[in-house]
Amino acid sequence: SLPKQVNLVEVGPRDGLQNEKQHIETGIKAELCNRLLAAGVSRLEAAAFVSPKWVPQMADGAAVIASLNRTLSPKPQSVSVSALVPNLKGMEAAIEAGVDEIVVFTAASEAFAQKNINCSIAESIERFKPVIELARRADIHIRGSISCALGCPYQGDVPVTAAAEVVKRLHGIGVQEFDVADTIGVGTAGRVSEVFSAVAKVSPLNQIAGHFHDTYGQALANILAALQVGVRTFHSSVAGLGGCPYAKGATGNVATEDVVYLLQGLGIACGIDLGELVKTGAWISGQIGKPYASRAGKALLNK
Ligand code: HMG
Ligand code: MG
Repeated sequence: SLPKQVNLVEVGPRDGLQNEKQHIETGIKAELCNRLLAAGVSRLEAAAFVSPKWVPQMADGAAVIASLNRTLSPKPQSVSVSALVPNLKGMEAAIEAGVDEIVVFTAASEAFAQKNINCSIAESIERFKPVIELARRADIHIRGSISCALGCPYQGDVPVTAAAEVVKRLHGIGVQEFDVADTIGVGTAGRVSEVFSAVAKVSPLNQIAGHFHDTYGQALANILAALQVGVRTFHSSVAGLGGCPYAKGATGNVATEDVVYLLQGLGIACGIDLGELVKTGAWISGQIGKPYASRAGKALLNK
């Protein structure tokens, strides 16, 4: 049966903006984050402390996080700010910035790990060990993201149990929550059920999150499929912003507005004010010169 409540992790300021070619000012990123907090977003992925040579758009993460105003949130005590961290250098920056959660990231596909983080899956896990040590000492929640769980742009098919295998290895080094990602949005509901069921065999369901990109228009169906497996945390991006720099052709994450609309219809609470979210989605799309891409958002604006 479906739950009364789910947790959404808003990844728009990070996954949504990282791939934008034109430089986006820090002030716009900060305003986006603050509007999201005001709309009721409690888990906010605000930055990536990665190499600026690899992803120049994320170079100002510390300044973005310093500009956050948690008191805008209806529940300031439950706000949790996260950032991607690929190595010790990124971890030191994340601690300095004062994040609540970090995300170490690898893949279910060797080919993607090489393209995205320039190492093998096994090497990435070795690289994470000292990062996790530091996070533990600083009492920072540790997520692990597994790209290409449903398919890879370089390798093609990915075995059903590949993500579960990586979850086991990440669990072994102290990762506390597992973000299972359809990086290029190729998955369909049946396969999502299989992949998440395999992951559920190696991890409690309350430590698993679904991260769906919407390239093939399947993300909402995939969320429903994962909900039926028992997953209770999902990632989404306001206005459906985004795309991965190392996943050619992939579109953004599922739009948060569309997910909130789905959840409302199912009677599932997520703490977000849809009207405020839609205003924010339309605003940020205008700021970066893109048409507003949330289907539910556009429909609500035209009502
Ligand atoms: P590398 O080139 O193998 O590593 O990159 P390196 O250690 O030789 O570093 C190269 C240069 O970067 C050096 O500078 C370092 O100091 C610097 P130089 O000495 O040449 O002047 N550097 C850093 N600077 C700032 N912060 C750091 C940092 N690390 C090194 N943390 C590395 C390896 C992992 C660093 C690189 O490949 C990288 O940053 N990759 C990140 C790629 C990325 O951000 N991809 C997008 C996010 S993942 C994603 O979107 C998927 C997700 O949404 C889930 C899904 O949908 O699948 C999460
Ligand atoms: Mg992503």
